[in-house]
This record gives sequence, structure tokens and C-alpha cells, in this order.
Amino acid sequence: MHISKAMNAKLCEQISNEFGASQAYLAMACMFDGLALKGLAKLFRKQTDEEREHALKILDYVLEVGGDVKLAALPAPKSDFSSVKAAIDAAHKHELRVTQQIHDLVALADKEKDYASRSFLQWFVDEQVEEVSSMEHLLRIAEMAGVNLLQLESYVRHMLAPKG
Ligand SMILES: [Fe+2]
Ligand SMILES: [Fe+2]
Repeated sequence: MHISKAMNAKLCEQISNEFGASQAYLAMACMFDGLALKGLAKLFRKQTDEEREHALKILDYVLEVGGDVKLAALPAPKSDFSSVKAAIDAAHKHELRVTQQIHDLVALADKEKDYASRSFLQWFVDEQVEEVSSMEHLLRIAEMAGVNLLQLESYVRHMLAPKG
């Protein structure tokens, strides 16, 4: 094994965190779908798939360096948000939390002089900048739209529409 036991354990924890995010966004997508906000639902389904890809990317790295993959049970995602804005706010906070988790992993890699893991994690550092920024943006739009959910929905549909 080319990674420490501590790094192995932390990476497995992050696999669960990413699957947890995937579940959380799927629950939100279902809520939006139920409100006939198909654009928002589609956006969050896309996020669901992305988070699953993140989990598998880490899983593949752990396997590649000869570590052990231990998958954990996931808590049920929250689905009873009081409003669309509350759900998006939770998604934003979730991304901030994941960013901290990734930074903690980077700090561990630095401490252990584990340059391979440090290099691997850089992709996630960059990805989180994008993820936090786009969730922050969506939250601002939701705040501006207020009770006018159709405005938010049409903004999202416009955002998802193929360019060109
Ligand atoms: Fe992620
Ligand atoms: Fe994310």
C-alpha cells in the first residue's frame, strides 16, 4: 500500500461524503420535480451524477494505490425543506462542508509528505471552487426571484439550454 492507514481511512470517509452528497441532491431533485420545477430537477439530477463520479474517482485512486475500500452506510438525505430557497441554501452549505473536507485531506497529505495523494487531491480542490461558486450563484438568483419560482425556473432552463 502506497498510502498510510490514516489517509486510506480519510479517503474512504470522503467516498461516503460524496455518495452522501449524491443522495442529498437526488432528494432535492425529487422535491423540485414534485413542484413541477423540471429545470431545477434536471440541474440537481446532473449534480447527483457528478457527486457519484467524485466518489468513484476517489474509490479508483484508493484501489490504484493498493488501499482497502470500505463502504459505509449512508444516512437518509433530508427531503422536507421548507422552501426551494431553503433546499438550495442547504446545497450551498453542503458544498462549503465538502470543500473543508477536501482541504483537511490536503492538510493530511502535506503532513505525511504523501505527494501522490496531494497531487490527486488538487483536482478536487479546483472542482470545489467551481461547485461552491455555482451553488452560491444559484442561491443569489433564488433570493432575487423570491416567491416567483417561475423566474428561477426559467433562469435555470436558460442556463441548461445548449449554447450556440
Ligand atoms: Fe463532490
Ligand atoms: Fe459537489
